[in-house]
Amino acid sequence: MTPLTNESIMNRRPAPVSRDGFFGRESESAELLELLARPDTSCLTILGPGGVGKTRLAMQIAHALSQLSVEPFPEGIWFVQLASISDPNLVPGQIAEALDLELSDSSPVDSLLSYLREREALLISTTSSR
Ligand SMILES: Nc1ncnc2c1ncn2[C@@H]1O[C@H](COP(=O)(O)OP(=O)(O)OP(=O)(O)O)[C@@H](O)[C@H]1O
Ligand SMILES: [Mg+2]
Repeated sequence: MTPLTNESIMNRRPAPVSRDGFFGRESESAELLELLARPDTSCLTILGPGGVGKTRLAMQIAHALSQLSVEPFPEGIWFVQLASISDPNLVPGQIAEALDLELSDSSPVDSLLSYLREREALLISTTSSR
């Protein structure tokens, strides 16, 4: 795996920002921000019917976090599209691609985890219920 500095992760593909207006979701946004601020939060899942606004809410949160004067995720906020993947074996590679990482062929999950474990970064992923 390519050794990386904190500086280099910040230059990678960040979460996209929508230029359209964002409406409502005040209580959900506040709850998500509160949960993300907790030091013991490592994973959050937004569940809801198709098209209800899960991805858009996550992107809005990413944008709000990036505007704070003290960034809670100094090593970046990254977006990875997993919704189109049906084979779980492809997940580590897809995440690695979003982060521009090279994983070891023998243990891709381990090398991804060892990279992410110490990082103060937020990884937003979309999944599919299929
Ligand atoms: N709060 C909002 N304000 C403005 N537009 C919104 C809002 N929530 C969702 N949208 C718009 O509605 C559409 C569907 O939202 P989104 O893609 O986030 O849904 P989803 O729950 O992620 O869908 P899926 O289950 O298919 O992944 C998008 O065009 C999005 O920009
Ligand atoms: Mg979505």
